[in-house]
Amino acid sequence: MAILKILQYPDPRLQKIAQPVKQVTDSTRKLIRDMAETMYAAPGVGLAATQVDVHQQIIIADISEKHNQLLVLINPKLLAQSGDEESEEGCLSVPGIYEKVQRAEKITVSALNERGVEFTLEADGFLAVCIQHEIDHLYGKVFVDHLSQLKQGRIRAKLIKRQRENM
Ligand code: NI
Repeated sequence: MAILKILQYPDPRLQKIAQPVKQVTDSTRKLIRDMAETMYAAPGVGLAATQVDVHQQIIIADISEKHNQLLVLINPKLLAQSGDEESEEGCLSVPGIYEKVQRAEKITVSALNERGVEFTLEADGFLAVCIQHEIDHLYGKVFVDHLSQLKQGRIRAKLIKRQRENM
């Protein structure tokens, strides 16, 4: 296993649109293991392949306290959504920034698991927020994109400054 490098906002590669996975293979599973190790090490509760510069439709999440309930969604599709929820979000690609974002409260999503088997999942609360946030990444969207232009500009400037200081 390996810890992968997580792209940092506003890296333009975070805006790439991910392609569907045609076949779930051993290399897909290796990528997922590496993504999981990277997410747990960060530590974070969700990660999209986009964030490690692999532009395939793969997301993982684990909101459990013991970090032992890894959820893998390959080619996720939002089938239904309902309700409104506003909660504070953060992102491993936007370190140290937390802002309130509006999302659906309840979702139904279908996807393939790491064995290539299709399943459907209903989620609400924090898990629903997490899955919507990760699916956004596959479409080149970061949670910051949901904020006002003013806030986006401030966050961009702050992170660029910080990245320069760390060079
Ligand atoms: Ni994120």
